[in-house]
Amino acid sequence: MINSAPTSPRPDADWWRTAAIYQVYIRSFADGDGDGTGDIAGLRSRLQYLAYLGVDAIWINPWYPSPLADGGYDVSDYRDIHPAYGTLDEAKQLISEAHELGLRVILDIVPNHTSDQHAWFQKALAAGPGSPERDRFVFRDGKGEDGSQPPNDWHAAFGGPTWTRTPDGQWYLHLFAPEQPDLNWDNPEVRAEFESILRFWFDLGVDGFRIDVAHGMVKDPALPDLGLTEFSVLTGEDQQDHPHWDREGLHDIFRSWRAIADSYPDPRVFVAEAHVRPSRMPEYLRPDQLHTAFNFDFLKCPLDAGKLREVIDRSITGLAAVGAPATWVLSNHDETRHVTRYGRADTGVQALFRDRTIPTDRALGTRRARAAALLMFALPGSAYVYQGEELGLYEVEDIPEELLQDPIWERTGHTVRGRDGCRVPLPWTGDTPPFGFSTSGAPPWLPQPEDWKEYTAEANQADPTSMLQLYRTALRLRRTHPGLTGEVFRWLDSPEGTLLFERGEGLLCAVNLSARPVPLPAGHSPLLVSGPLDKDGLLPPDTAALLYRD
Ligand code: BGC
Repeated sequence: MINSAPTSPRPDADWWRTAAIYQVYIRSFADGDGDGTGDIAGLRSRLQYLAYLGVDAIWINPWYPSPLADGGYDVSDYRDIHPAYGTLDEAKQLISEAHELGLRVILDIVPNHTSDQHAWFQKALAAGPGSPERDRFVFRDGKGEDGSQPPNDWHAAFGGPTWTRTPDGQWYLHLFAPEQPDLNWDNPEVRAEFESILRFWFDLGVDGFRIDVAHGMVKDPALPDLGLTEFSVLTGEDQQDHPHWDREGLHDIFRSWRAIADSYPDPRVFVAEAHVRPSRMPEYLRPDQLHTAFNFDFLKCPLDAGKLREVIDRSITGLAAVGAPATWVLSNHDETRHVTRYGRADTGVQALFRDRTIPTDRALGTRRARAAALLMFALPGSAYVYQGEELGLYEVEDIPEELLQDPIWERTGHTVRGRDGCRVPLPWTGDTPPFGFSTSGAPPWLPQPEDWKEYTAEANQADPTSMLQLYRTALRLRRTHPGLTGEVFRWLDSPEGTLLFERGEGLLCAVNLSARPVPLPAGHSPLLVSGPLDKDGLLPPDTAALLYRD
């Protein structure tokens, strides 16, 4: 008998302020039914592993029915489960089993666009110009005498134009792939529908949502030209009053979503994927709007002490003004894995539209990834772990071209490989692919490198110096050490190219990003180090340490 009554982990209304949240890219996490694709059965079978790792919550990438034109970010039914991943009953079981283990469950909601196979979009196509069905999306006549030119000059995020023409001559807007038509958030039906979707999952016991493209849902109804030659992602200080990013109208939507979340006795939470200027972020995180947002500034920051210090300061102080905690993240399903990034000459993130295959020193990248993880777990606020980073996985940059699945590969005319290299199915056990990913031994939907035998969860578990053991120890300290559980944070003076800060109870974190070994702060001993100290007891380059007062 399935117990679908929502149970709850620790009754702590503020859990999200300090949580460590593990991102489950479900298609690649674990395959329980043996078809080479990850699923709910696989995830349920590995929940113990996540409890062993010591995270507080999981965030599951979209698991809804979808043609998978963009890995599930093209949703055709927001209230069900993709048949390849399982059933709604299995989802209910997962939620209750996760809760029994003390793990909260966050889903991914995709409100900027649906799939072109969603019933609403199919009805809109059939109903024709001027219909209420079309008003749920952004349909317009084209420019030029015969309307054969797109309504404006916007560029789609995956390459190519942002408009597609329908057989009756009208065009529809899609900021991403043509299979992802944008919704019209000025339409009250759209608002009501998403409020009902939130309630549907909250009623099943889901603890929160990651909001996809939270900065893009509202458009300037005039849809003015941008006059740009390339697609622009909002990162700099230079883009004011953009017609489809970071518009004022978003905040009303988020206020109504917050009221829904707060109407539950054990409050539900939101984390925004919002690529906005850092100075704008507090607007989203006021107490009556969203709880947290991903810190992409931190993810994108090169491993440079000065730059990191600026980002950390800005994150903590900027958000403190509205009472929101900072968040920290090093990798996700859209970016090159950080072991690979940190082994390059330029340790920052390469733009989506660049060929990201750049020479990398993996041993160096791994050493730096260990230091970065210790830094992240020592900072106040909540932290995200992208599946596989705890195993030390690197970006797979040699997936055969004919197997690439990311729409970016097609949309860029086979010039940019896209994001598949960070989405390769996890290695769990054994010496040969699929490394326990699939119960049947079926080939995984993306091929795994042979040398992942050294990176399996099993191999990591057996090695006390592995990435997994570092993550486990750091996560345990983060959860239990009185110096790390509070919000105390203070910079201390340290040599050029290094970071040194104090948390509660005199606990220090030192990170050496300079080219020379540096002494540990006087009167302190290591509690946890990301790599061995040198023979003179100095902290080597690309190494971090948590220290306690003697
Ligand atoms: C998600 C991507 C997705 C895009 C469109 C993003 O920000 O993280 O994986 O392709 O939204 O939904």
